[in-house]
Amino acid sequence: MTATKWADVDEYLNALHIGADPVLDGAVAASVAAGLPPIAVAPNQGKLLHLLARMQHARSILEIGTLGGYSTIWLARALPRDGHLVTLEFDPRHAAVARENIARAGLTHTVEVRVGKAIDLLPQLEDDERRVPFDMVFIDADKKSIPEYFEWALKLSRPGTLIVVDNVIRAGNVVNADSTDADIQGIRRFNEMLVHEPRVIVTTLQTVGSKGYDGLAFVLVTS
Ligand code: SAH
Ligand code: DHB
Ligand code: MG
Repeated sequence: MTATKWADVDEYLNALHIGADPVLDGAVAASVAAGLPPIAVAPNQGKLLHLLARMQHARSILEIGTLGGYSTIWLARALPRDGHLVTLEFDPRHAAVARENIARAGLTHTVEVRVGKAIDLLPQLEDDERRVPFDMVFIDADKKSIPEYFEWALKLSRPGTLIVVDNVIRAGNVVNADSTDADIQGIRRFNEMLVHEPRVIVTTLQTVGSKGYDGLAFVLVTS
């Protein structure tokens, strides 16, 4: 089993189950052209986010980590006409590319891209009665801060909210308790928080595919 084979299988599945999508394909192309790192969710992962948002009957979604807006578009397409998504991005160059991709997707009125450090932007949402509580939260920014983002996600949730966290396996390095990588320690701290958090139920899946070997955590807020 090789990374090439994982990518081949993703290509096979995505050709069948997703196919050409000028808006999403264009968002990837524009992100590459602008020099953004190629770290957006894979097409089948984006579609999983879309399915989950629809299963939630989501009207209000929070995303932490926008990049070029690829996952944003998948999520926002699951919203009703009067739904809204707020996405937080530190890098203004990434946010500019995302805004263009979101405009080409016809989602400008649904999506708000806010620029800044997520940890500074999250408190501004606390009293936002139009958006909060969120029906779904997607955490996909710097991995070392996942514990802080998860705390905020919980604060901005209701019973029934789904919190999805990307990149929680990192090629299996998550098992290295002595890792000096701040991202790994962030993921491990998040996992330990979940043990002592009675308000949620969680499961984590390892994933392979065009993005290599990583994983996603799914957290349902129950009370
Ligand atoms: N969700 C996107 C990928 C996000 S990549 C997709 O799947 O399409 C991670 C993004 O988080 C990058 O654009 C990076 O600039 C941003 N980021 C990193 N640290 C951040 C922080 N402290 N606050 C907000 N965004 C941050
Ligand atoms: C990285 C970030 C991501 O959100 C991702 O899905 C893959 C890689 C990174 O920073 O390396
Ligand atoms: Mg990610």
